[in-house]
Amino acid sequence: MGKALDGVRILDFTHVQSGPTCTQLLAWLGADVIKVERAGEGDITRGQLRDIPDVDSLYFTMLNHNKRSITVDAKNPKGKAVLEALVKKCDVLVENFAPGALDRMGFTWERIQELNPKMIVASVKGFGPGPYEDCKVYENVAQCAGGAASTTGFDDGPPLVTGAQIGDSGTGLHLALGIVAALYQRKSTGRGQKVLAAMQDGVLNLCRVKLRDQQRLARTGVMHEYPQYPNGKFGDAVPRAGNASGGGQPGWILKCKGWETDPNAYIYFITQAPVWKDICTVIGREEWLTDPRYATPKARLPHLMEIFGEIEAWTKTKNKFDAMDILNEHDIPCGPILSMKEIAEEPSLRKTGTIVEVDHPTRGKYLSVGNPIKMSDSATEVTRSPLLGEHTDEVLAELGYGKDEVAALRAEKVI
Ligand code: COA
Repeated sequence: MGKALDGVRILDFTHVQSGPTCTQLLAWLGADVIKVERAGEGDITRGQLRDIPDVDSLYFTMLNHNKRSITVDAKNPKGKAVLEALVKKCDVLVENFAPGALDRMGFTWERIQELNPKMIVASVKGFGPGPYEDCKVYENVAQCAGGAASTTGFDDGPPLVTGAQIGDSGTGLHLALGIVAALYQRKSTGRGQKVLAAMQDGVLNLCRVKLRDQQRLARTGVMHEYPQYPNGKFGDAVPRAGNASGGGQPGWILKCKGWETDPNAYIYFITQAPVWKDICTVIGREEWLTDPRYATPKARLPHLMEIFGEIEAWTKTKNKFDAMDILNEHDIPCGPILSMKEIAEEPSLRKTGTIVEVDHPTRGKYLSVGNPIKMSDSATEVTRSPLLGEHTDEVLAELGYGKDEVAALRAEKVI
């Protein structure tokens, strides 16, 4: 079966995490992704956080599946000629260099347009135009500048970053959508365009509900579903909400059996209003159904912490999976806190291809996260990440370079 992006060629100038997430996704959707790296070192992540000496790290392998790798010195005129040939041949150039680096290489938007007016140039940057546009940015900087850190954590603690890579991988996903949309628009305009996804913007987009809350707070001075209500104080900015749900249905993380020794023996529990009767029945507090302090969602809001305490007295008697089974029989929304170990070992995730085992020539077998997007007519087969420069000869041959020319470029350390 074909793939959604069959025939689309991507010149992949990305490195580290944000850009590679984007191009990996495009590769999974069927695009031919040619990753350009510097000879000798390649993407810095090949050597970062290594668990096996001299072998591409999991950081690299897990972000660069289904791609081809070529090594080219972009600052050498002969290397530049190779890249210009690729610009003419490809549909999209994706990059996440520090601001200005692509221009300094000689690939300004104007030059790329001259070479290929249909080229889509897609960039991840830390910030959009404004005071910080020239700054280099990594994941946690974006989480802080995009509003995630100030709204994550507990009221009595410092701002917190989250383990979900919303700045890097999140922005890569945004960029991929922009690229696919630009390819679609090109069908009618015949022209390429610039696509920019700034990490601050991507994080803020994912923190949309917190900007919602900022405006609610400014208008009313209080937010009833936040743990600060009714006994704590609200300031003039959205506070950290601990494990509150962030939506209209109150939720919290509760201890389960074994929590004293297992750091993940917890369950997320949502006191969804339509199943309140079931919640009271399951935990044995039927009297709440008629008690006016608990009978309606509004009446419950000032007692939420007390209610969760009572529910926790029940969840502490069950392990998280048993609790999940019982609660799901009643359609009570809840979710076990799964460790990465549990996720890695979960058979259903292996079955759907969300967790895949990949074989690598120097690393051997390892686990990766497969394509989270499942399409009925564009199935994803995850193939291993390329070795540094593994496809240089192949790609140069496709560009019309003869064997002797390739050998000469190699001797001159251009490739
Ligand atoms: N041949 C020759 N030179 C190459 C090359 C190649 N194939 N590939 C990269 N380079 C050069 C670049 O031209 C640049 O040179 P210059 O500074 O002289 O212009 C240099 O390598 C380094 O690029 P840079 O992007 O500045 O890397 P860095 O390691 O210093 O910074 C980041 C890393 C991530 C901070 C920075 O790239 C950045 O802010 N990117 C945008 C935001 C982003 O994506 N952040 C998240 C990363 S997960």
